[in-house]
Amino acid sequence: MARLAVWAYQRLRAGVDRLAPPELLLAERITGVAGTAVAGALVSSGLAGRLDDRPRSARELVSDGALDRDSAERLLRGAAAVGLVDRVGDGFRRNRLTRGLQPDGRRTLAPLATFFASETNLRAWSRFLEAVRAGEVPFRRAHGHGIWEHLAASEEEGAHFARAMDALTRLDADAVVDTPGFSGLPGLCDVAGGTGALLEAALLAHPELQGVLVEAPSVVQLARRRFERAGLLGRVRLEPADVFARVPEGLPAYVLKDVLHDWDDARALALLEVVRQAMPPGARLLLVELLLGDGPVEPLASLVDLQMLALTDGGRQRSAEELGALLRKSGFAPPVVHRTRTASSVLVSEAV
Ligand SMILES: C[S@@+](CC[C@H](N)C(=O)[O-])C[C@H]1O[C@@H](n2cnc3c(N)ncnc32)[C@H](O)[C@@H]1O
Repeated sequence: MARLAVWAYQRLRAGVDRLAPPELLLAERITGVAGTAVAGALVSSGLAGRLDDRPRSARELVSDGALDRDSAERLLRGAAAVGLVDRVGDGFRRNRLTRGLQPDGRRTLAPLATFFASETNLRAWSRFLEAVRAGEVPFRRAHGHGIWEHLAASEEEGAHFARAMDALTRLDADAVVDTPGFSGLPGLCDVAGGTGALLEAALLAHPELQGVLVEAPSVVQLARRRFERAGLLGRVRLEPADVFARVPEGLPAYVLKDVLHDWDDARALALLEVVRQAMPPGARLLLVELLLGDGPVEPLASLVDLQMLALTDGGRQRSAEELGALLRKSGFAPPVVHRTRTASSVLVSEAV
């Protein structure tokens, strides 16, 4: 998401909202879960993938009998109501938001839509008030265990979450690896690097670079397939590991993208210390995060912060100053902050 476009949209929306009846705005906010369910169902039912530029009736779209026609039609009407498809008379066709829910395409958010609408996610949100009342972790209250145990216990759920993170990272990766901290590096270790979307972008943008990706074992398998498909396996070492116990030593740079936000300060410090121990003198640390207090990005960061509150054990979005304080406590120099052209920022620091 281009930073400038986010800013312009927020200004325009604030202006339009001032003209709208408050009951209408409230109804939209209060019933937001319907939008989540509709987006997820459009993807999982296959309807998003079936829509094209020609308006077709629900009857035509479900003529193979795979879906309930009445419910599918109501789903499509609801999708049109929240702008996810276009309605033309009795027919429905895709628009630019539908394209972002279609399974193919480099910038699809389809896996994010299905994760948000999943029972795993919605059950956690149903316990959200317990966080506000008593500081409980909603995900634990709902599932009886933490999110990372949950994802490790089911191959299907783990892969689903990893694909959702991958879809988000693909939106940002080119802009992130274009910032100064990524240039001139012979090697880079992506710590808890997911399925490798960021590392792939870094390898493609910097032909001299060799990469190491360290992740939970099941996620490493998915990363291996990505690098195989991209013909980049020769430039990457894949290391299954618990990053709180060990990260590979001796690389000239280490990156953590949207990793510290999963953890409370104590765990974030513990992780930074493990990385610090692995770093040779003068090595570079790159933290990629959506920052609180970052102008137009602030509302987005505040919403991601709520997702951290709902799902993780004390994870949170932080400001540049808060991340700087964690870095100082774990043996790093004060960071230089580089804003990308998208919403993420890159904090560049060195071990001291
Ligand atoms: C929010 S995702 C970010 C993934 C990736 N950095 C990105 O931005 O796309 C956090 C990642 O941390 C990984 N993770 C969590 N605990 C871990 C652990 N103890 N050891 C290794 N990886 C872990 C998860 O598997 C997940 O892929």
